[in-house]
Amino acid sequence: MRLFALAIGAAVVVGLLYYVAGLRRNIAAAKASGLPYVVGPFSPWFLPWQISQHVWIPIIRLLPKAWWEDWLPASTRDYSWVFRHDDFARHGDVFLFVSPGSIIMFVANAEAINQITQRREHFPKHIDIYQILNQFGRNVLTVEGAAWRAHRRATAASFNERNAALVFRESVHQSLGLLRFWDDKRARSESPTLFTAQEDVMRFALNIISYVGFGLRLPWPNEKAPDDLDPVSAKYGAAKPPPGFRSCFVEAVGTLLENIMTLLLVPRWLIARIPYKPFREAAQSHDDYVKYIDELLKLKIQEVEKGQRAAKGMDLMGQLVRSRYEATKGPGKPQPGVLSLDEIRGNAFIMLVAGHETTANAVHFTLIHLAGNPASQRRLHHELDRLVGDKDPEAWDYDEMINPLMASLLGAWMNETLRVLPPVSEMPKVVTRDRDQPLVVDGARYVVPRGTVVSLCAASVHNNPRYWPTKPSRFSPGENDIHEHVPERWILGSEEGGGGDDGSHGGRARNEEEEEKKKEMEVEVDGADREDYGGFQGRDTSAKLFRPESGAYIPFSFGARACLGRRIAQVEVIAALAVLLREYSVELAVDEWASDDEVARMGRSQKAEVYGRAQASMRKVVRGATSLLTLKLHGEVIPLRIVRRGEERFVNWMDGEEEEEEEEE
Ligand SMILES: *[C@@H]1O[C@H](CO)[C@@H](O)[C@H](O)[C@H]1NC(C)=O
Repeated sequence: MRLFALAIGAAVVVGLLYYVAGLRRNIAAAKASGLPYVVGPFSPWFLPWQISQHVWIPIIRLLPKAWWEDWLPASTRDYSWVFRHDDFARHGDVFLFVSPGSIIMFVANAEAINQITQRREHFPKHIDIYQILNQFGRNVLTVEGAAWRAHRRATAASFNERNAALVFRESVHQSLGLLRFWDDKRARSESPTLFTAQEDVMRFALNIISYVGFGLRLPWPNEKAPDDLDPVSAKYGAAKPPPGFRSCFVEAVGTLLENIMTLLLVPRWLIARIPYKPFREAAQSHDDYVKYIDELLKLKIQEVEKGQRAAKGMDLMGQLVRSRYEATKGPGKPQPGVLSLDEIRGNAFIMLVAGHETTANAVHFTLIHLAGNPASQRRLHHELDRLVGDKDPEAWDYDEMINPLMASLLGAWMNETLRVLPPVSEMPKVVTRDRDQPLVVDGARYVVPRGTVVSLCAASVHNNPRYWPTKPSRFSPGENDIHEHVPERWILGSEEGGGGDDGSHGGRARNEEEEEKKKEMEVEVDGADREDYGGFQGRDTSAKLFRPESGAYIPFSFGARACLGRRIAQVEVIAALAVLLREYSVELAVDEWASDDEVARMGRSQKAEVYGRAQASMRKVVRGATSLLTLKLHGEVIPLRIVRRGEERFVNWMDGEEEEEEEEE
């Protein structure tokens, strides 16, 4: 017994020594770096802490503030989104978080982000963090170095302007489907209030990625599948599980994404044994998903072996299979960079996740903010009337329309949504273990210690007042509007915009057209890390647009590892919003505060009051968004009304200045 106690005692002492030694070493390294630093008791990303912190944080906050105020914010989940720039305002735009086991560098400075993302060899991606996305095979998002080059070469080929045009067309098509779906829903339910905007938009995005990524045509649940639908699409689009499956494809994907954390953290054998419904569903959707993807993969392989070309669309998965086939079976030596079947599965999964949830969020959050900002929605309506008029959307021409749309108030709406709600609010990099790395910030030179983990805080740099034009807030007296969704910010000199014309903040607008010209997509360039692999960057001509400083705006990350699908995502969002807003308005539902009859009897000031409550509630719910994979609403709903233009209850009169124009409609 005494021996046992002694052993425990010794272990505790050794542990403590390690702890203290680690802390001292890391503090010394932080001191030497020249950067500001804070010291915390453990790493903010320590998994048990991440999972259970909602229990501890309220308790810790009861202790004297001085004990925790330096390290608790950065230890909070969704740090960048929750605290935005506030905590950086205390510590500095680049600071180190030192704990016994690690050093993390939090970054909300454009100049630093620019260097870190351009120097990919020095600051590779912190791929340990991405294990969660490796469950179905390694993929372009989760690997580094030579493997990344191979994945990138294989996947990037599909991200070109020709395919962006295809996505544009498909997005128009699916948006019309979504509108019909909503019409149908309204016709069939008692209240016209829409509670399912988020999931419906997810369906919209899934339909698109299924087509673009896998050549599948999924019909909307309310629509009869066309007679000439190919059997594979019919199977994957079926509303009932096909034989041998427990859920239909759409369900399997949805449930899988919702449960991705559980699947990662709880071992499979345990999940199978615990009689807990969410676990069972997670396991089930996982198994179904794997089966669906395997079948698709087999089909693609057969197609390629038979020498069939993909019939239509992009078919990213077919493309990966084809290049693998050509590289291994074709004449000449098999190339080293070719992807395994497992890696094809992995990339298929990433395309689903990245091409689906993120875009859906962008559309959904834009709709919500449109509803919350009637005046700007009205302006957007008028601008769209000018840009697309009543031309039938199915006949819209990508080449002719995309750049004017991107450079319009519509583009500003999209850009502002991605500023306020970046799909991924923190992006992890790491300093290689072999040496320290210099970093220049505001003319001072710092040395980032080797092995430091780096977090690029998108939501923080997006709210850093030094980079963005602002105006006084409309909601919080005495503050500026940097935290608010103000699309006009992107249009310089616009009457309503931030415009930077108040001189006090004046985000540093620069005309980056020249730079952009140079960055047009060059997929074959390998290892040329200065190239922006983020995809095509269209040139839009208007010199009046606000251009954030390089590194200040990173919704798609930046540099070589920027999102491959960026152009495609933007095109998809723009097309969807243009189609929706051409004929419809989005309003907040006010059912919580007044019935339809009551609203009908209301005068102007009463309406304004009731809508004001809905707006305040909306802003609150949006702030409650959290990241599982991407930043979105989990468990909360903002009820909307999608109404034909001319039939609005609020949007048409909220703003005095627009009143006369309403008469014409
Ligand atoms: C929005 O962002 C896109 C892509 O970065 C850009 O091409 C476009 O000009 C921007 N639009 C506005 C109005 O700022």
